[in-house]
Amino acid sequence: MKVLVVGSGGREHAILWKLKQSPRVTDLYCAPGNGGISEIARCVSVEATDIEGIVAFSKENNIDLVVVAPDDPLAAGMVDALEAEGIRAFGPRRNAALIEASKAFSKQLMRKYNIPTAEYEIFDDSEKAKEYVRSASYPLVVKADGLALGKGVIICNTAQEALDAVSSIMEDKKFGSAGQKVVIEEFMTGPEVSVLAFTDGKTLVPMVSSQDHKRVFDNDKGLNTGGMGTFSPSRHYTEEISKVCMDKIFKPTIEVMKKEGRPFKGVLYFGLMLTDKGPKVLEYNARFGDPETQVILPLLETDLLDIFEAVIDEKLDTINITWKNEAAVCVIMASGGYPEKYVKGYEISGLEKFENCKDIIVFHAGTKKESGKFYTNGGRVLGVTAIAPNLEMAREKAYKAVSDIAFKDAHFRRDIGIK
Ligand code: AMP
Ligand code: GLY
Repeated sequence: MKVLVVGSGGREHAILWKLKQSPRVTDLYCAPGNGGISEIARCVSVEATDIEGIVAFSKENNIDLVVVAPDDPLAAGMVDALEAEGIRAFGPRRNAALIEASKAFSKQLMRKYNIPTAEYEIFDDSEKAKEYVRSASYPLVVKADGLALGKGVIICNTAQEALDAVSSIMEDKKFGSAGQKVVIEEFMTGPEVSVLAFTDGKTLVPMVSSQDHKRVFDNDKGLNTGGMGTFSPSRHYTEEISKVCMDKIFKPTIEVMKKEGRPFKGVLYFGLMLTDKGPKVLEYNARFGDPETQVILPLLETDLLDIFEAVIDEKLDTINITWKNEAAVCVIMASGGYPEKYVKGYEISGLEKFENCKDIIVFHAGTKKESGKFYTNGGRVLGVTAIAPNLEMAREKAYKAVSDIAFKDAHFRRDIGIK
């Protein structure tokens, strides 16, 4: 089968790496891909958000399956456009991807159907939002409604901070049209866990749990990033909690999406907070997480192509999905300065050591390849994943590998996977 993966980061590298192991995959393509991805797939110069371009390429090249990985093309209806041309596509349709693309939609859905989440109010008028925050109790959380690269969430400790957050989102349009509405939410506390699940709209199969580290510096200091590292499984996500999540959150979510005429097929990502009143939903994503995927897929034993096809054909109940009883840690090596200004184009050394390694995999996030050499080409450059019998061993192995890889001004957290 000829498979095209849409996207260009570490998540897409991990999806392709796993698909490559499937005996039924004959040709792999990635649009637009990156330097590391070009080692295992043919990179095609079509942007991930170019719906017409992706449809045209898939038709011209007789692609059998397109995997749409990032949020933007899903929210814009890339899967619908591919299906309209008779091309098989993995990912939710536009009306189901709304569960991520509009926080106002997802909050209203959860309230309507009693799915546990933080209390909230929604505003489409900045004056009304400001009036509300003046008399609210603190801390509280102000969120832009739409997609904002994970940056549209502002935790406010005072009324002044909340007023500033409302102004920047709704009046200064810091996140563009994503800020036409805001969700103002109760502040919750507790460990955070991510649980991704495969679902065909009827059956839902959770993957192994994971946790990510969003802040740029050790001990969760500094600015938020796209993710500085992940590990799996979470130490907090017990068998007992997983049962509660299945009954109160996971199953109800897919049932109510179906009931609302928005059946969700693809990967549904549950961002959870384990509060003292039980697990609650922080957010939904309509796709694989990045860099969660870089620790989850290396632990998957089952053929990923089989799973993708079972989801599309609504036969997920017919396959048995199994996981390695091991742990994985992924350390992101980023460019100096990230998530603010950084320089691209530095040569990366030390990668060849891991070329044929089974338990250490270097996923490329922002690299390019020129004349046989790899260069940095983004804020997050590499995700170095190690697999081992337990988290402590995986951590040690991942950091040993990181110490063998170098580029100018490389920077990474040293506490990934500790808690
Ligand atoms: P989100 O994109 O909605 O997951 O928010 C990003 C991050 O902000 C989460 O991973 C949490 O750390 C934090 N956050 C979001 N909502 C809340 C909340 N209601 N209470 C406390 N922290 C929150
Ligand atoms: N790592 C969180 C996300 O992919 O949105």
